[in-house]
Amino acid sequence: MAILRNFVVFEGGDGSGTSTQLELLQRRFDEGRQNLPPVVFTFEPTDGAVGQLLRAALRGEVKLRGETMARLFSADRAEHLYGEDGVVQAARRGSLVVCDRYTLSSRVYQGIECGDELPAALNSGFPAPELLLYFDIDPHTALLRLEKRAQKDIYERIDFQLRVRERYLHLLDSCRAEGSRVAVIDASSPVDAVAEEVWQNISLLPIIKRCTTQ
Ligand code: TYD
Repeated sequence: MAILRNFVVFEGGDGSGTSTQLELLQRRFDEGRQNLPPVVFTFEPTDGAVGQLLRAALRGEVKLRGETMARLFSADRAEHLYGEDGVVQAARRGSLVVCDRYTLSSRVYQGIECGDELPAALNSGFPAPELLLYFDIDPHTALLRLEKRAQKDIYERIDFQLRVRERYLHLLDSCRAEGSRVAVIDASSPVDAVAEEVWQNISLLPIIKRCTTQ
C-alpha cells in the first residue's frame, strides 16, 4: 500500500465524535486566521449512489450480508478515490484532504461480520493515509452520546462496539507498518481539548508547515 501524501483520515467507533471534530477543523480553515493550504473535507460512506445504498443498509432498511456490505464499501471507496473530483486527484494537486472514515473502518466493522480476509483483500489496493487519527473512547460513553439521536444504525450496539474498539486498537499497528503516522486521541476529553490535539497533529504535516512558515 503506497502512502497518499496530504491525505488524513479520522477513525473511531460510533459516537467517538469524528464528525464533530471534522466540522471544528473545517471552521479553523474557514476562519482563515493563518496561511493554510486548500482543503477538502469528505466522508465515507459517501453520498454517491453506492454510499446511499450503504446508508439505507446501515439504517436497517435494506438487509445485506456482511460480505455484500464489505464489497459495497470498497466499491463506494473506489469511486470516492478515483471518480470525478476524487480524493487522489485533489491530494496530488496539493489540497489537504480530510476524510471521516476509510479502509480501517471496513477492516474493523466488516471484519467482525465476515472475517478478516475479505475486507483486507478488498482494501489492500487503496493508498494509505499520510496521517490517521484514531478517536479512542469507552463504547459505553460513546453510545450514551448517541442516545438522543432518533435514528439508530445497525452497528450501534454495545456488544458490537466493544469488539469494534478492540479491533481498532489491534489493527493500528498494521497501519503504522504500512507507513501511516498514527495518533491516538483521547476522545473522552472536552470537545475543545480534542480539537486542539487534532490541530497539533495536523499542523505537523509538511503541507501545513510549508504554508505556516512562509
Ligand atoms: P458514521 O461515520 O458514524 O456516520 P453518521 O454520523 O452519519 O452516522 O456512520 C457510518 C457507519 O458506517 C459506522 O457505523 C461505521 C460504518 N462503516 C463501515 O462499517 N465500514 C466502512 O468501510 C465505513 C466507511 C463505515
